[in-house]
Amino acid sequence: MLEDSRVDKHKDNIGGGSFWNLPERNYSNLPTVCWDFVASLYGKNELLDILEIGVHRARLLTWLTSQYDIQVSSYTGVDPYAGDETDPYTGAYWKDKEEADNVWNESNSIFEKHGHSLLRLYSQDYYSESEGSEWDVILVDGDHRYTEALWDFEHWFNRVKPNGIMIVDDYGNSDTPEVTRALNEFIRNNRHKILKSAYRVLPFQNKGKEIPISKTIVFLMRNEIS
Ligand SMILES: C[S@@+](CC[C@H](N)C(=O)[O-])C[C@H]1O[C@@H](n2cnc3c(N)ncnc32)[C@H](O)[C@@H]1O
Repeated sequence: MLEDSRVDKHKDNIGGGSFWNLPERNYSNLPTVCWDFVASLYGKNELLDILEIGVHRARLLTWLTSQYDIQVSSYTGVDPYAGDETDPYTGAYWKDKEEADNVWNESNSIFEKHGHSLLRLYSQDYYSESEGSEWDVILVDGDHRYTEALWDFEHWFNRVKPNGIMIVDDYGNSDTPEVTRALNEFIRNNRHKILKSAYRVLPFQNKGKEIPISKTIVFLMRNEIS
């Protein structure tokens, strides 16, 4: 049993940010994990076409351009910034359409500053618009509901170039179990299209929570079969 003084110390430290190995503030290193992996896969002189489904505040592009020596030919972001009652992110990322408009404007400025395109569209609409296009890297991080996530995986993997990769965020995240189910289903149905796969497990801390949980970032490489 712990001595009283040690128990008190624990109490003092919870919320103070120095409790053993608990981090002092929220963190998430998704951009580092993604871009480290991409940098390890491609040569410094390879020009990459990158597509991100679900962009929010353009955090991935910001990290890419500020921290990495990855050569980008095109970086396209797709996000509806809906903010209406049909949007699963209303109440979490923005309270209404007006706030979603503000986030869209700020994120669009970041894309414009770097000469890239942020399209205020649903993934499904951009899929129809972009027929015939292929990407080296497609990050899927949009609608996290089962049917929508599975739709994204099933469709966007077909638009990855041979030996290119699809990156999926939020597998194994207890907050987004439908992504996990959808990716399991996708892999079950599409093994013949996957050349190799890799994963990285990431601890992260939700806003306002003391204790980190984890999620897995999954990398799926496309083979030559169309
Ligand atoms: C988890 S956030 C993306 C985070 C971003 N990838 C990052 O790493 O910072 C999810 C985003 O997906 C967008 N979204 C929701 N439904 C979508 C859809 N059908 N197509 C594309 N994006 C969608 C939301 O508006 C939201 O901004």
